[in-house]
Amino acid sequence: MREGKLKVGVLVSGSGSNLQALIDACAVPGHPAEIVLVISNRPGVRALDRAKTASIPAVVFDHKNYPDRASFDADMQKALDAADVEFICLAGFMRLLTTEFVEHWGGRMINIHPSLLPSFKGLNVQQRAIDAGARFSGCTVHFVTPEMDVGPIIQQAVVPIHQDDTGDTLAARILVQEHRIYPASLRWVAEGRVRVEGERVFLNDAVYPDTGLLNPSPEQAN
Ligand code: GAR
Repeated sequence: MREGKLKVGVLVSGSGSNLQALIDACAVPGHPAEIVLVISNRPGVRALDRAKTASIPAVVFDHKNYPDRASFDADMQKALDAADVEFICLAGFMRLLTTEFVEHWGGRMINIHPSLLPSFKGLNVQQRAIDAGARFSGCTVHFVTPEMDVGPIIQQAVVPIHQDDTGDTLAARILVQEHRIYPASLRWVAEGRVRVEGERVFLNDAVYPDTGLLNPSPEQAN
């Protein structure tokens, strides 16, 4: 077990409900991680208010003010270094990162994505899962690699897709599970229980449920 708490930077672009879940988890006494910096690429977003309320330093690097991704990432890197950040959580951060930045943080940056990867990478994934006729969707916490929405998976949660779902209702159902698995995954990482081997993640003392979930349920279809 490492000495002291893992210093975490959280990158956001919007509402910050996942940031809030991480803030709340880290506030539990004895939690092995602390959020030391929040960075947003958009000014005025709710995530910044959440950071302020929690007395966490927050900075905005408005991507519109940068000529290219490299200069934007370089400014983020400076801020992360100045805050002694050791580990990054992307929490609704809707900006592609340069390969250089991703490789610098290799094995030290995770993301949450609102689909069951490797299905439905990219944008508008809830509506795309509905349109594809999938019966289940969910969310994935994974290590970040240069290819978008690809990287060793730490944890997933599954939710059913209902026949009257819209993208928004499905997104809301998935978000509830995001707020469960993102803090859990960060805790495991900070506890040093996570090991990456190739594409796979191994977790010390993991519990693997052995249940199945059917959707629609045969019982209710009678
Ligand atoms: C979340 O659903 C997150 O999984 C998604 O954006 C939302 C942010 O919500 N992220 C992505 O789609 C990244 N590819 P939040 O700002 O309330 O946490």
